[in-house]
Amino acid sequence: MNKTYNLRSDTFTLPSEGMRKAIYEAEVGDDVYREDPTVRKLEEMSAELSGKESALFVSSGSMGNLIPLILKGGLGKEVITAKESHIVRHEIGAVASISRTLINIAKSERGILNPESVESLIHEKAYDSSEASIIEVENTTSGLIYPLETMKELKRIAEKHDLWVHLDGARIFNAVVKTKILLSSWAKEADDVTFCLSKGLGAPMGSVLASTREFIDEARRIRKILGGGLRQSGFMAAAGIYALEHNVERLEEDDQNRISISRAIEDTDLFDIDISETNMIFFKARYNRKKSLEAFINRGILVLEEGDDIRAVTSLNITKKDAEEIAELIRGIKKEEVK
Ligand SMILES: Cc1ncc(COP(=O)(O)O)c(C=O)c1O
Repeated sequence: MNKTYNLRSDTFTLPSEGMRKAIYEAEVGDDVYREDPTVRKLEEMSAELSGKESALFVSSGSMGNLIPLILKGGLGKEVITAKESHIVRHEIGAVASISRTLINIAKSERGILNPESVESLIHEKAYDSSEASIIEVENTTSGLIYPLETMKELKRIAEKHDLWVHLDGARIFNAVVKTKILLSSWAKEADDVTFCLSKGLGAPMGSVLASTREFIDEARRIRKILGGGLRQSGFMAAAGIYALEHNVERLEEDDQNRISISRAIEDTDLFDIDISETNMIFFKARYNRKKSLEAFINRGILVLEEGDDIRAVTSLNITKKDAEEIAELIRGIKKEEVK
C-alpha cells in the first residue's frame, strides 16, 4: 500500500512510546474524591502555566467551553462571539441546548472579533431584553493567532461592562510557541482559559480549564453534572503531563512543516490560500473542486473539506521528511488533472 499522510486534523495524533510509558506508570486514585495524584499534578502544573489560581482536568475541549457558558451564561444571558467560533459551528448547539445561553454574533475578520462591534452589542439592562454576560475568544482560530492587543481591548471592554471573558485556547500552545508570548500572558486577558492536550500536544484525550479557585470549585460540580467526573483519570492526566513536558516546543516543527506544504500549494498556481498560519492551511481550488480534492487523495494526502475550503493540518503525524515528500507530491499536480 502506498504511504498516506494524514493532514485532516491534529486530533489524529497518537501517543508516542514515551507517552504510553508515562500512562502505564501513572500513580492513580479516585479523582472524584480528589485522590488521584497525577490529576492533581496536571491541574497544579496547568494553573501555574496559565497564571491562574486553579485548574480542572476535563474530558474534552467542548466540555472546557461548555462549563464556563453554564456558569457565566444561562437564561436571558448572551455570549458575544464570532460566527467562525468553535462553539457556534462545531459544538452541536450545546451553548443553546445545555447552557441555555444566547449567541450574539459580533463582527469578525476570520474569527478575530472586532472590539467596536463587540461593545456595540452590550446595552443597558432592560426588562424585556437579554443581556450579554460573556465575551468568547478563540486562540488560535482556524490556525490564526489573535493579536494580543485585540485581546487586551476586549478585556478592557469586558471589565468596563462587567462581563466574563472565556478563552477557548484549544490550540493556544501553537500561538505560544510561534509568538513566544507565554500562556499566562494570553490568559491574563481572559477570566478563564481552556486548552486541549489531545490536539497538537498528542495526548489521547483531555483538556484543562483554568481560572480562579472559586470558579474552578464550581466548575468541578458542573463537570460532575455533565458526567465528566472520572475515577482513575490519572492515566490520561499522565499523558497530559507528558504532552506539556515534551510536546509543546515541537509545535515549532508543525509550523515549519506547514510553511513547506503551503509554499508547494501556492507554487502550483491551482489553489488560492485563505489562511496559512501555525499548523493550519485553508485553501480554495481555482478549478474543479472535486478533482482537486481527488488529486490530493490519489497521492495519499488526506485533507478535509471545510465549507468552501480545503483544510490541511500539520501535527505530530507529519515529520519534516513527510512534509518534504508532501510538498513534492503537491508540486506534481497538473492543471489538466484538476480542470
Ligand atoms: C477551537 C476548538 N475549540 C474546541 C474544540 C473542541 O475540542 P474537543 O473535540 O476535544 O471537544 C475544538 C476541536 O477541534 C477546537 O478546534
